[in-house]
Amino acid sequence: MKILVIGGGGREHALVSALGKSARVTEIVCAPGNGGIAATARCVPVNQKNLADLMRVVMAEQPDLTVVGPELPLSLGLVDAMQQRKLRVFGPTQRAAQLESSKAFAKEFMQRHQIPTAHYAVCHSAAELTEALAHFHAPIVVKADGLAAGKGVVICPSKEEAHATVLQMFDGTLLGTPETRVVLEEFLEGEETSFLVLADGAHTLPLVAAQDHKRIGDGDTGPNTGGMGAYSTDALVDAKMRDWLIAHVAQPVIDGMAREEAPFTGVLYCGMMMTARGPMVLEFNARFGDPETQAVLPRLQSDLVNALEAAIDGRLDQISLRWNQQPSVCVVAASGGYPGSFSSDKKITGLAEATAVDGVEVYHSGTTQKNGALVTAGGRVLAVTALADTVQAACNRAYTALEKIHFDGMYYRRDIAHRALQKKDGAKKI
Ligand code: AMP
Ligand code: GLY
Repeated sequence: MKILVIGGGGREHALVSALGKSARVTEIVCAPGNGGIAATARCVPVNQKNLADLMRVVMAEQPDLTVVGPELPLSLGLVDAMQQRKLRVFGPTQRAAQLESSKAFAKEFMQRHQIPTAHYAVCHSAAELTEALAHFHAPIVVKADGLAAGKGVVICPSKEEAHATVLQMFDGTLLGTPETRVVLEEFLEGEETSFLVLADGAHTLPLVAAQDHKRIGDGDTGPNTGGMGAYSTDALVDAKMRDWLIAHVAQPVIDGMAREEAPFTGVLYCGMMMTARGPMVLEFNARFGDPETQAVLPRLQSDLVNALEAAIDGRLDQISLRWNQQPSVCVVAASGGYPGSFSSDKKITGLAEATAVDGVEVYHSGTTQKNGALVTAGGRVLAVTALADTVQAACNRAYTALEKIHFDGMYYRRDIAHRALQKKDGAKKI
């Protein structure tokens, strides 16, 4: 069986690695892939922003199964274009992917289907903004409607700042392109949890939960990033909470999308805030998370190809997933300066020594081969994931491995999984 994976980050490296474990797979192609993925899959160039170019690769490769990693190809309609040609693809259609590609759509959808989320208002103009702001208390969360690669959310400490931020989104000074719709949201307090499920248009099958670390600095300080690390442990979401999240969030989303004639097949990523009022949805993504995938998939013991095919064929109610009970910790190493400006082409050393550490895997995000050497090629460069009997032991392994890796300006957070470690059962064997 030949598989095509679309994307070129750490998430796709983890997908390629998990798919490659299936005895059914004979060949994996990754478009565009990266310097690390190239060791196990054939990488082919593609312009991920261009539907015609994505389809050119699909038609040239004729894969038996295509797995779409990032959100942009989904929002461009890659799945729709492939389905029209009767090609097997894992991921939601353009309409279903609106759960991620339009925050206004997602909020209005949640309201229609009584899915718990923060109070909100959608503004199309300065006049609507002034009117809406009267109903909010500071701090206020301002969200650009469209995809903004993690840069579209601003937490504003005052109404004045919220007002100014929305106007800057309308006139394009904040994000480069003008927004026609902006969402104002009530600020929620609590612990964040990434709850991901596979969906086949009707049924849901949960993956093990994870927690991301979005801020650049230790202690959750500084600007937001794409994600500086993640961990996954069964202690994050117990069986009772998992059933609650399926009953009150994941299944109502899948049922609601089916009723609205946009059935959702793929991964539904529910970004939850565990508040004093109960779990509330912060956002949906229509795909695997990055770096959550690098923490979650190493724990999967079942055949990922079978699971993705069951989703495509509407059979998720007939399968179950087996998981390694060991927790995982994934720490991202980034280029100095990220999420601001940074320089690339820095030589990376020590990877063989890092992967030799027990229980460790290294996933590449922004790396490339240049003149026979592996060099940095992005803000997030690689992620080290370790499994062990406790969160603390997994942390120790991940950081031991990271210390063996070097590139100029390498930066990583030293406190990944700090919330789990602070809880008194954090170091307990689970
Ligand atoms: P989003 O892209 O919607 O997940 O937002 C990015 C990050 O902003 C989230 O992971 C949260 O850390 C934060 N955030 C988003 N919405 C809220 C909210 N209503 N209250 C507090 N924090 C939020
Ligand atoms: N880790 C957050 C995301 O994938 O959007």
